[in-house]
Amino acid sequence: MKSEKTIFMCSSCGNDYPKWHGQCPACKEWGTLNEFKEPKRKRGKSVTPKESISLNDILQTNPRERMPTRLKEADRVLGGGILPGSLILLGGSPGVGKSTLALQIIQGAEKKSLYVSAEESEEQIAMRARRLNVMSDTMQLSGENHMEGILNQITLLKPELVVIDSIQTVYSGEVDSLPGSVSQIRECGQQLLHTCKQFGVAVIIVGHVTKEGVIAGPKMLEHMVDTVLYLEGDDRYDHRILRSVKNRFGATHEVGIFRMEEKGMIEVENPSEIFLAERNTDAAGTAVFPSLEGTRPILVEVQALVSNANFGTPQRNVNGFDYRRLSMLLAVLEKRLNIPMGMRDVFVNLVGGMKVDDPAADLSILSAVASSAWDKPVNADTVLIGEVGLAGEVRSVSRVEKRLKEATALGFKKALIPKASAKQLTAKSLGIQILPVSTVREALNKIFD
Ligand SMILES: Nc1ncnc2c1ncn2[C@@H]1O[C@H](COP(=O)(O)OP(=O)(O)OP(=O)(O)O)[C@@H](O)[C@H]1O
Ligand SMILES: [Mg+2]
Repeated sequence: MKSEKTIFMCSSCGNDYPKWHGQCPACKEWGTLNEFKEPKRKRGKSVTPKESISLNDILQTNPRERMPTRLKEADRVLGGGILPGSLILLGGSPGVGKSTLALQIIQGAEKKSLYVSAEESEEQIAMRARRLNVMSDTMQLSGENHMEGILNQITLLKPELVVIDSIQTVYSGEVDSLPGSVSQIRECGQQLLHTCKQFGVAVIIVGHVTKEGVIAGPKMLEHMVDTVLYLEGDDRYDHRILRSVKNRFGATHEVGIFRMEEKGMIEVENPSEIFLAERNTDAAGTAVFPSLEGTRPILVEVQALVSNANFGTPQRNVNGFDYRRLSMLLAVLEKRLNIPMGMRDVFVNLVGGMKVDDPAADLSILSAVASSAWDKPVNADTVLIGEVGLAGEVRSVSRVEKRLKEATALGFKKALIPKASAKQLTAKSLGIQILPVSTVREALNKIFD
């Protein structure tokens, strides 16, 4: 048996090191390394050598078909349904609706399935199933929280789909530490990975994540699993956003939008309508940006408020967009357009809890800030697309046509787009007036005449 060894493990990415670092060398987070005694293994694992297999042999076998979930929004995010034998992590903050979605996915897949819930009793799951109207002849429930017991049930039952709700509540007898600890999550994740590849069963692992997304377990599991989905949402809104942040078998950054109702997750077919529903078209400081989430265009309302700072240090507050990128845009406004920002508070919000990590949003954010600073509204029927460079230039962005089509479908009449992107447009008419711009000065002149 190995002797106990001290290691330092990062609570953000799960990497471990023999000595302490202030900043994790792998994920660059500060202060996340904690001292940790590497647990003794109860018994040594025998290593069975695995034989290699020719690629041609595998290519000649027919690939197994994906399992559609009958939830179009979830299927798209998964890359066209659940792939047999894949390990999927479904993360989300407490109460966001992970168990609800997992139950609806099982019902939709209509396959022999096992729902393991170590945190709720069978009666509680049945209560939820009754509320969601989930009926299934092929689903088994289990309250087992011992990993080896769960693996036994999988071996005996041979389901095609398993849900483990949640990984923080199961534990393995192989490791001497509490459920939810980094080593338990790592061990259970490994065992599930092994079973899932051995029997070709698809496993959905539910994992709790705090609002900051910093719980050790799920972050560490991200490396292990094939697909990572995050269910995002907030108590203030009914809608939930299912986002793929990693997918070995499909596009990443794909999103699915749902409305959380008493009957469960209801699919939202036209999310742009939700995100623009309460827009005040006459107000200064708002702009509309056609964002592209994965393959899907969604119109997002950007709001900005600029006011004189009451305290020495001006505040910068941003929701749904990168803080550092906002600082860069404010510097461009100050330097290239002479709009003083040094003594002003700036608040930026993407409406409806949307998060955008797309440089194409730059022009809309910069224009919303300028609109608030000058107290002049941006024309309500205009959308703005473009990445902003340090020299104040508007740079080309990807897939402009797709974004413009969504804007046209929602009745927008004009689009400011980068000149370089305008040259690449292939469609003769998109039903929207295109205003090509090459600098932010030119863009603001066109917006505010
Ligand atoms: N009767 C109801 N009507 C409408 N919504 C409900 C009802 N009961 C529960 N909900 C919603 O379901 C949410 C809980 O869903 P669910 O249990 O699937 O979340 P979870 O992410 O699995 O939570 P946990 O982190 O506790 O496991 C609640 O936050 C609430 O919004
Ligand atoms: Mg739950």
